[in-house]
Amino acid sequence: MILIDDRFVPETEARISYLDRGYCFGDGIYEVFRVYNGRLFEKEAHYERLVRSAREVKLPLPCPIGELDARLSKLLALTGVQEGTVYMQISRGAAPRAHAFPPVGTPPVLLAYCTELKRPVETMRRGVSVITRPDIRWLRCDIKSLNLLGSVLAKQEAVEAGADDVILHRDGIVTECSAANAMIVQGGAIVTHPADHLILHGVTRAVVLRLARELGIPVREERFPLETLMAADEAFLTGTTFEITPIVRIDGRPVADGNPGPITRRLQDAFEALIPQVETRIGEGAPR
Ligand SMILES: Cc1ncc(COP(=O)(O)O)c(C=O)c1O
Repeated sequence: MILIDDRFVPETEARISYLDRGYCFGDGIYEVFRVYNGRLFEKEAHYERLVRSAREVKLPLPCPIGELDARLSKLLALTGVQEGTVYMQISRGAAPRAHAFPPVGTPPVLLAYCTELKRPVETMRRGVSVITRPDIRWLRCDIKSLNLLGSVLAKQEAVEAGADDVILHRDGIVTECSAANAMIVQGGAIVTHPADHLILHGVTRAVVLRLARELGIPVREERFPLETLMAADEAFLTGTTFEITPIVRIDGRPVADGNPGPITRRLQDAFEALIPQVETRIGEGAPR
């Protein structure tokens, strides 16, 4: 089932206008929620970010957040997804193609669907390889906009280079990954780019920094250069679907000894403790 505005329709009947501004201009915003045990994880943080993104691009929400939440809950109940994601986007509606906003009263278009997706536990145990590339995206990466071309091109470069993902940098300063935040461990402290206009303020990023502080691991939200990345004791990425995934190779070189590091593992354990009923676990089978 697909949610379009306030209707739940089968996939084959889901229709969006060819004049939809999300399609023509990428003029809209989105969120991806994690579903554990049939429930949205950290939904308040996602709604807060959605409201902020909408405000920043002057996009009216189609309904109050309480109503949106009720629709997404119904979508989850109808599809029965237990472990997966909910993708949700809101565009500035359909109107004859012109760059300026459409006439006042043009209704925004809401679209959402659920996908079954198991936690990528094997990847979270093993870690991933990344390449580094210049960050060519716009200067409002804090807005979760439908415009993802910079990320798409970067991720494709990673795929073509045989890597799992890409770490982006602006003039040698590490920002984030194509669809995740990047963190390193340096001298026992976690270092990650500040939550400013150059990165997405990840919901998982905030959870991980909170867990780190609870565990007594120092956190520094500061800019760091590529050289610091390459010399890191540990590196990992954070995101709704990746959770906390170790980065074990960067540009073909191992991070430290090339294995996921102890602080990354501690954070993974702490994250798993937040979702005790989930059946897929990293814990079992992971070298500790
Ligand atoms: C560019 C970018 N950074 C970071 C993230 C991670 O954010 P979150 O933890 O909210 O999924 C995403 C998620 O899609 C992203 O696209």
